Amino acid sequence: MPPPNARALPARPFAFIAHFVRLYWPAVLGVALLESGQSTCAILLPFAIRRIIETVEGLRLDGLSGSEDPRLWTELGDPLLLFAALNLGVIIFSRGSGAVLVMLGPALRRRIRRSLFAWLQIHSQRYFLGNFAGSLANRIAETSMSTAQVLWTIMFDFWPLVISFGVSLYLLDGVSRDLALLLGVWVAVYVTVSFLLARRCRRYARDYAAARSLVSGKIVDSVTNITNAKLFARQVHEREYLERYLDIEVSKARRTFWFMEGIRWFQFIAAAALMVGLVYSAIGVWAAGGMSLGAFAMSASLGLLLIEQARGLSRKFLDFFEYLGNVTDGVATIVQPHEVVDVPDAPSLRVRAGEIRIENLRFGYLPARPVFDGLNLTIPPGQKVGLVGFSGSGKSSLLNLVLRLFEPQGGRILIDGQDISQVSQESLRAAIAMIPQEPMLFHRTLLENVRYGRLEASDEEVMAAARMAHAHEFILQAEDGYAALVGERGVKLSGGQRQRIALARAILKDAPLLLLDEATSALDSVTERYIQECLQQLMQDKTVMVIAHRLSTLAHLDRILVFHEGRIIEDGSHETLLARGGHYARMWAMQAGGFLPETEQTGQLDPDQAGHISKLAQTEVS
Ligand SMILES: Nc1ncnc2c1ncn2[C@@H]1O[C@H](COP(=O)(O)OP(=O)(O)OP(=O)(O)O)[C@@H](O)[C@H]1O
Ligand SMILES: [Mg+2]
Repeated sequence: MPPPNARALPARPFAFIAHFVRLYWPAVLGVALLESGQSTCAILLPFAIRRIIETVEGLRLDGLSGSEDPRLWTELGDPLLLFAALNLGVIIFSRGSGAVLVMLGPALRRRIRRSLFAWLQIHSQRYFLGNFAGSLANRIAETSMSTAQVLWTIMFDFWPLVISFGVSLYLLDGVSRDLALLLGVWVAVYVTVSFLLARRCRRYARDYAAARSLVSGKIVDSVTNITNAKLFARQVHEREYLERYLDIEVSKARRTFWFMEGIRWFQFIAAAALMVGLVYSAIGVWAAGGMSLGAFAMSASLGLLLIEQARGLSRKFLDFFEYLGNVTDGVATIVQPHEVVDVPDAPSLRVRAGEIRIENLRFGYLPARPVFDGLNLTIPPGQKVGLVGFSGSGKSSLLNLVLRLFEPQGGRILIDGQDISQVSQESLRAAIAMIPQEPMLFHRTLLENVRYGRLEASDEEVMAAARMAHAHEFILQAEDGYAALVGERGVKLSGGQRQRIALARAILKDAPLLLLDEATSALDSVTERYIQECLQQLMQDKTVMVIAHRLSTLAHLDRILVFHEGRIIEDGSHETLLARGGHYARMWAMQAGGFLPETEQTGQLDPDQAGHISKLAQTEVS
């Protein structure tokens, strides 16, 4: 399967729209032709009426002898046939284009959504930290809808109008040059002014849209913090807070709508002017003997039809700008270049033993504020390493870098000698099972959530993993058991339950490298003890990095690294670090409550050292 980022998307709005038109060009061309047919037929109706009137008028002059006269239908046959055919044409062409649209519209939107989603998926972790999930989902929906709307506005509004004006000009030119000139000038002025007014109005419409979305944002924020509002009894305050933004919205709305009212004044006056002008000039031409009664009627009906079609042109321009603006914004947000990309033809990572080597790693979320500045570390195959250190010292960041969720600014990370930036991200992450600090669950069933670790696992395997992670018991207690839904991000589970689901997932994945970031922090000590046994089993034959604040979780590991401001300040086994009486020993002493029950078991510390450590702990506390 080709990587989903293989097909590039254009990052400019018109190129973006053109890209999708090209994919569906036969259907788009079909709609354009059918619409041309429809508007040609519709605007030719006055011409058919002209023919009918002229025939009737001729018959009257010839002294038609009532409705029995055979000449009536022989003479009128052709004009009536034309009239009927044009009406039929309008029906067939318009419904034909409707049918193509029914097939094209949903397919087009689906294609756009899929492409945008595929593009979005490849974005880096950093990208998602800066963009909210809800607004991204909105953007995708809006961009696909607006891309289609831009197309429809062109094909169903602008294009038919061009045809109508063109055919009308041609018909009027056949009657009188002056009439054609009048219409031509009117069209030029009308279209230009409509366009300019719409462009002016666009600014107001944008302000109004911004005010609207600000109000929505405030409501979302307020609802998200509904617990805060309740806890502090601030419902009234929240309503008053919202009121301010509603006021702004009202004033922006009025300004926009007043301007639109102004546009309508222009349109109504222009329409009346065209009508009066056309009839007045037509009378002039007719009086001078240059026009038949039928031609006169045709000119007047053309005027009526054109006014009907041209009315709302400013509105259409306005919509068009808005849709185009949506596409521009959406494309600019989503179709940015990807930050973390595979090198061309990246090979798969091959984990043989599981050695992790970090060479001179330099990284900062902001380059100006480095988290790591030249970190070196080698973890031999199969070693189990504990990472400890103060909050914010860079432990989670290191795991993120091993997973290549972020790109370091310098240095390399090697797994079994292979630079992780040179292998495919998919193979890298397939080789690592990670339990993140705050595990998230899909709003899907518990079964699906656990199975996410290995999609092809059988129900029995899923349950076995859940049993190992001590999740099976509470899952069975849920009303629907494994079929229970867990709520958005897993909110219907407790923190400890979520962690056990995440653990079951990792067990199922069974990858050669295992990273645990506070994987058992939310569990009570009894459950944690159970889980430790399961973890021991899981860790066998794997290279493991474990972050924990509760040091007893790490004491049995092969090696412990103490982090401080992105540097490793202590490195050794639990016993050696205790014996050193440094940072780790101090933290250990504090967690053990000032004395060290484990000393007897390990036998590594002499009473002097223990005393020294508890003194250190006391100074730290005071
Ligand atoms: N997404 C981010 N954007 C910017 N800075 C970040 C981001 N994530 C972490 N940091 C910063 O990077 C530093 C290291 O954070 P990290 O999460 O690695 O700490 P940690 O050792 O895991 O802490 P904890 O024990 O609290 O989980 C901190 O100063 C933190 O504020
Ligand atoms: Mg962390």
